[in-house]
Amino acid sequence: MTVPNHVAIILDGNGRWAKRKGMPRSYGHVKGCENLEKVCSVAKELGVKYLTVYAFSTENWKRSKEEVDSLMKLFRNYMKKCLKIAKENRMRVKIIGDPSAFDLDLQEKIKELEVYSAQFDELHFQIALNYGSRDEITRAVRQMGEDIQKGVLDPKQIQEDTISSYLDTRELPDPDLLIRTSGEERLSNFLMWQLAYTEFYFTDVPWPEFDKAEFEKAIAKYNQRDRRYGGVKEE
Ligand code: IPE
Ligand code: IPE
Ligand code: MG
Repeated sequence: MTVPNHVAIILDGNGRWAKRKGMPRSYGHVKGCENLEKVCSVAKELGVKYLTVYAFSTENWKRSKEEVDSLMKLFRNYMKKCLKIAKENRMRVKIIGDPSAFDLDLQEKIKELEVYSAQFDELHFQIALNYGSRDEITRAVRQMGEDIQKGVLDPKQIQEDTISSYLDTRELPDPDLLIRTSGEERLSNFLMWQLAYTEFYFTDVPWPEFDKAEFEKAIAKYNQRDRRYGGVKEE
């Protein structure tokens, strides 16, 4: 069985899962966050080297103030807790997205976690926070424009790799497998450039219930895929 080198997950369904249990959406986020901890160690155990999760999109600010506040509180606690998780899994944590929209104390906690965990490299764990693919590409184009003005970048030299190097995911390999939980089958503005040749796996299982067995099912399905990258398969 081939284990995908880089797995990206759109962790969806926390709210609906909680609602079905007669609980508030914020309870779903708490349980979803606890599950993230488990899934990190499962990923490591299975031999996945890169794990990237979508936790808060640039569009998620549209949710009620109550829900956004509860998510921010959760992220604050999680950044602290993640120092321990990083050590246990020997994982390097990186935030992708634009953290500048967050309160300063949360931005500092993010920095602290990234700096602390930079010593590890057994699992590379990326958390997409205030992330949107269109926003990422917009920021990259803006930066490229500035670099052209400064004379650091020559427009004639721009290749696909140049663009990749301006994205938040620079230095990361593209995902091999994308998983989205809870039944929706869309990208919701996640990694549009990076997922160009990624295999997609959708499951009805809500994120708080996505466990090792489900992860293995996704990998088994991935193994049935015939990846071609536009080429022709040699028989
Ligand atoms: C995913 O669960 C977590 C975030 C987007 C923060 P949702 O909150 O989207 O849960 P559903 O999709 O409404 O059930
Ligand atoms: C995508 O889920 C974003 C995250 C999982 C963070 P959403 O629940 O926000 O996406 P839509 O609104 O259903 O497309
Ligand atoms: Mg959702």
